[in-house]
Amino acid sequence: AATLPPTYVLRPLRKSDYAIGFLDVLRVLTTVGDITEEEWNGRYDWMNTQGKGGYYIMVIEDQGKIVGTGALLVERKFIHHLGLVGHIEDIAVAKDQQGKKLGLKLIQALDFVAEKVGCYKCILDCSEANEGFYVKCGYKRAGLEMAHYY
Ligand code: ACO
Repeated sequence: AATLPPTYVLRPLRKSDYAIGFLDVLRVLTTVGDITEEEWNGRYDWMNTQGKGGYYIMVIEDQGKIVGTGALLVERKFIHHLGLVGHIEDIAVAKDQQGKKLGLKLIQALDFVAEKVGCYKCILDCSEANEGFYVKCGYKRAGLEMAHYY
């Protein structure tokens, strides 16, 4: 497995990451909007990050700045005898940090958590342009995404 460069740390999201560029990293992915600290705190608490909410959000920090992030949502099912399915979401690496295997490390960390909490599989949606990245992370094309926007 790839190792992180020496000053980089991979760890769970903290509430204080609001102040060190977490939302800016997500902006490489899509629009985020102007989220106030109060709004952030409310959503963070609702997600109950590393606990019962089933949200596991990881970040990579380099010297006081967030440079990458990725999320795992653990879905609890009735089928497959109360099976758990991991959903990988919102993988983002800061533009000037891409190509350093940070994305790969994030996926490896989320896969590790998913397997440890008992998921029988992890699934994700991505664009054709990102297929090669996920193939390198061990994923393969399965099914077809559909969406209904409101
Ligand atoms: N197509 C093909 N191969 C790729 C791509 C790509 N788009 N991106 C990276 N790779 C390869 C790398 O070359 C590397 O291969 P190697 O091991 O042979 O050297 C391997 O995949 C690992 O690459 P990383 O360096 O870990 O990739 P990076 O840290 O740049 O992260 C990511 C990839 C997350 C796609 C990043 O480019 C990014 O943030 N892009 C913008 C946001 C985005 O599109 N996120 C994914 C949305 S899908 C979702 O969230 C479920």
